[in-house]
Amino acid sequence: MTFTVLITRQIPEEGVKMLRNVCQSVEINPHDRPLTYDELLKSAKGRDAILTMLSDRIDARLMLEAANLKIVANYAVGYDNIDVRAATAKGVVVTNTPGVLTDSTADMAWALLFSVTRRIVEGDKLTRAGKFAGWAPMMLLGGDLMGKTLGIIGAGRIGSAMAMRSRGWCMKVLYTTQNRRNGVLEEMLGARRVDLETLLRESDFISLHTPLSEKTRHLIGAKELSLMKRTAYLINTGRGAVIDEEALVHALRNKGIKGAGLDVYEEEPKLKPGLAELDNVVLAPHLGSATVETRTKMSLMAAENIIAVLHKKKPPNCVNTEVFT
Ligand code: GLV
Ligand code: GLV
Repeated sequence: MTFTVLITRQIPEEGVKMLRNVCQSVEINPHDRPLTYDELLKSAKGRDAILTMLSDRIDARLMLEAANLKIVANYAVGYDNIDVRAATAKGVVVTNTPGVLTDSTADMAWALLFSVTRRIVEGDKLTRAGKFAGWAPMMLLGGDLMGKTLGIIGAGRIGSAMAMRSRGWCMKVLYTTQNRRNGVLEEMLGARRVDLETLLRESDFISLHTPLSEKTRHLIGAKELSLMKRTAYLINTGRGAVIDEEALVHALRNKGIKGAGLDVYEEEPKLKPGLAELDNVVLAPHLGSATVETRTKMSLMAAENIIAVLHKKKPPNCVNTEVFT
């Protein structure tokens, strides 16, 4: 059998090597940028497998034109960039990379929480600009974490890892989840499952970890932001469109909330007008899983998924298991 694979962006070598050992042709996007949709269509044609990024739109048309396609292996835990229903209808397996990026993404959420709460980016800018004129009693005062309330929206793997890290600051934890109640968080942290409104009203820090779906698009809009405490902070390391970004700009500008830490945006890589001008928000360029260790594991995981499917086996991280029934 000859297998042909397309990798839509340069990724760590480890997974690429695994694929080269099994596949006759492994083509990697040579550019230091995502493929355009037309380039993606063209390059996907004739491939047995594509290893895709969250910035690639994988839709029904692409899966129709790439008639040999057996698997789309997303290099991400989220897979809202893929039309999974169309994939299932065509018998194309879709896989993701859960678990290996849980800790790095939870770390990123905390990094953003600290940065915005202790005004690190503002302080860095001031210091570099030569404006640090010595210690000052009222300079860049932030907020404390100890004993505050952390609200986790979406207490899955990453949300739980975020919550577990709050033990260092003896935080009270509230959470919402679309799934069953989170027994581990309840037992280990005394966490309470509440409705969204209660979580918004009572939390000092709110961290978003829900996948993006039609149900969660703009889950946090003007009304939800208005329910938050004026002293509260919002952190998002999930998907940008879970927040109505325009409403967030408005709330940050009018001090409806204290601040925000964002790793993801509604229309990446574009930012909503006004967002970048605000001092009370820290903006990271989608770095949640961006550690050497995690990205290496993601490349191996995506390769394992592809190799399993090419060998007609069930891959370890299938998101549309219906294709096998
Ligand atoms: C990154 O955002 C991912 O879904 O892995
Ligand atoms: C993602 O892995 C999640 O379940 O939070």
